[in-house]
Amino acid sequence: MSAAVYEATTSAPVNIACIKYWGKRDTKLILPTNSSLSVTLDQDLLRSTTTSRADPSFTKDRLWLNGKEEEIKDGGRMDNCIKEMKRLRKVLVEDKDPNAPKLSEWKLHIVSFNTVPTAAGLASSASGFAALTTSLASLFSLPLNPSELSLIARRGSGSACRSLFGGYVAWEMGSKPDGSDSLAVEVAPQSHWPEMRAVVCVVSGEKKDVGSSVGMQLTVETSPLLQHRIKYVVPERMEKISKAIKERNFDEFAKITMADSNQFHAVALDTTPPIFYMNDVSRNLIALVEEYNRVCLEKTGHLGAAYTFDAGPNAVIYTLPEHIKAITELVLYFFPVPSAPAERSTQASAVGFTDVLNIFPEVGGKPTGKLIQGFNEEKVKKWDVGAVKGVIHCKVGDGPKVLGKEASLMTAEGTPK
Ligand code: DP6
Repeated sequence: MSAAVYEATTSAPVNIACIKYWGKRDTKLILPTNSSLSVTLDQDLLRSTTTSRADPSFTKDRLWLNGKEEEIKDGGRMDNCIKEMKRLRKVLVEDKDPNAPKLSEWKLHIVSFNTVPTAAGLASSASGFAALTTSLASLFSLPLNPSELSLIARRGSGSACRSLFGGYVAWEMGSKPDGSDSLAVEVAPQSHWPEMRAVVCVVSGEKKDVGSSVGMQLTVETSPLLQHRIKYVVPERMEKISKAIKERNFDEFAKITMADSNQFHAVALDTTPPIFYMNDVSRNLIALVEEYNRVCLEKTGHLGAAYTFDAGPNAVIYTLPEHIKAITELVLYFFPVPSAPAERSTQASAVGFTDVLNIFPEVGGKPTGKLIQGFNEEKVKKWDVGAVKGVIHCKVGDGPKVLGKEASLMTAEGTPK
C-alpha cells in the first residue's frame, strides 16, 4: 500500500470593498484603523486556487505562485500565516489526538494560481491569502469557522479576511491589542441579495507606484482628514450600509458606496506627499455613472449604479440586472475595448484581456456600445480604443470552496503541474 497523501485544494473569491479599509493601527498584526465592508464576487472568472501538501520527505516549506517559486521570507506575511496554521494544527488536533499524524512537524509544499484574465491587473492578494488559509485549514482538519480563519488570512493581507465569506461581509476592526477580535463576519449571505452585479472595468495604466501597504501608512502618518474619517464617518456608514444590505435598499447602498470610494481617494490626496490612484479614465467612468444615475432618478426615482475604486485606476460598478445592459453599452460607447478573438473571449484564460468577459444573458448578445435615451453625451469624454482594456461581468458570489482531488495543482512529487 502506498503511503497516504496529505493534501487539500481550495479556491477563494475576490472581494471589493464598499467601505474601504485604509490605515493600520498595528502593522505587524495587520489591525485596521477602521472597520470595512465588502461584496464577495463570484469565482467564475476571478479566484485563487491553492493546493497544499504536508509530507515527511519534504525538506523545507516551499511556495509556487502562478508557476514560479517564491521565497517564503522568515517573519514575512506568508511565513506568519503558515506558522500560525501549524501551531493551530498542533494545539487543536495533534495534542488532543495522539493518533493524528504530526503534520505540524512536516514541511509544506504550496502551489497557488490566480485565475484572472491576463493583464487585468486586479489585486489578487485577498483571494490568494484566503485560498491559502482555507487550504491549510482543510489539510490540517482544523475545527475553525470562517470568522476564526479570517484572523489568520488577515495576517497575510488585511482585505483577505473578508474573502473568507461569500455575500456581504464586514471586517470588524476590534479593539484588543492582540487582534483577536479583528475579524470578518457575514452581514448577509449571497442568497439574501443575489441580484447584485459588478461590472469590472479594467483601465489601462502604469503599475501603481505606491502600493496599498505603504500608501495607507503614509496616510495614517500625515492625513488629518483620515482622523475625521475614522472617528466620525466610517462608524455611521458601517451601520447604514449594513442596514441597506439587510433591506436590499440599492439607493442607500449605492450612495454610501460612492461616497466612501470618494472619501478614500480624498484621504489619499490628503496624504503628504499626495497619492493619486485614479486617472482621467477613472474620473470619466465616475462621470458616466453620475450621469446614468441622473437619468435613472429622473425616470424612476431610483439610482441605477454605484462606482468604487481601490488603490488603482480600475472601476468596479455595482448595479442590478435591469441596468447591466445599459451600463455595459454606455461603458463601451465611451470606452471602446479592442476585441479579442471570439473563441478566447469568454474564457478566464483569455490571452491579452481585451473584451467583455462573462457576458450576462440580460445584455442580449455581444454589446457594441450605445447611448441610452436622455443621457447627456457632453458629460463624458469619448476615448480611443483601449483606454478601458476590458469589462468583466460578475455576480455576488459564495465564499471559499474545498475542491476534490481532481482539482489538485500538484504533481505526484509535490511540484506545480
Ligand atoms: C484600497 O488589504 O491590500 O483595496 O493589509 O497591507 O495587505 P494590506 O493591504 P490591502 O489593502 C486594500 C485596500 C483597498 C481597500 C479595501 O479593500 O478595503
